[in-house]
Amino acid sequence: MVTDIQPERSIRVLRVGQRYVRDDRTLTHLCLVSRALGAEAIYLEDAEKDVTGTLEEVNRTWGGEFGATLGASWRKVIGEAKKEGRSVVHLTMYGLPIQDVVEELRKLDKILIVVGGPKVPGKVYHEADFNIAVTSQPHSEVAALAIALHEIQSGEELKRKFPKSKLRILPTAHGKRVVEN
Ligand SMILES: C[S@@+](CC[C@H](N)C(=O)[O-])C[C@H]1O[C@@H](n2cnc3c(N)ncnc32)[C@H](O)[C@@H]1O
Repeated sequence: MVTDIQPERSIRVLRVGQRYVRDDRTLTHLCLVSRALGAEAIYLEDAEKDVTGTLEEVNRTWGGEFGATLGASWRKVIGEAKKEGRSVVHLTMYGLPIQDVVEELRKLDKILIVVGGPKVPGKVYHEADFNIAVTSQPHSEVAALAIALHEIQSGEELKRKFPKSKLRILPTAHGKRVVEN
């Protein structure tokens, strides 16, 4: 039960790309950022099973039901998103500045945010409903995703609650306070 600031909005994430080098740390970070910042699930074209193991442990400890699907091709995920009326928002430095289109993005109730890895097939740019840049400078899919999630949800995702957690943090100005539920 996500506190449900905007319960009507459903955001999923797709990471396109096969790896050249092992980058499970980046994939894990994409999962953790998606989960923490209000997405409900992520699709990873290419990842090791231990990425989902890590996520299951995070869900058990910190709550929520964030889901990860491994091995689904980008074509299939984008095709299915379109069939269910989900808007495809591809993050790329070549796209339109997010600040110019964010009002339009906030009106969408079902979104698939697509991020790339080392190389994104040209067709993804054409299949996307929106090609969106978080600055027109190269940086990172993790940073672009975090900022896009934050902008689209107007910061409301920061208040999200994660149900059925084993542990809960009591925010404190100094030190660490964690309680068992
Ligand atoms: C290593 S970057 C590759 C940069 C790539 N040339 C591009 O099209 O953005 C991997 C991914 O990070 C995301 N990314 C990087 N810089 C971005 C930016 N300025 N705006 C939006 N997304 C960005 C994109 O999803 C990209 O596919």
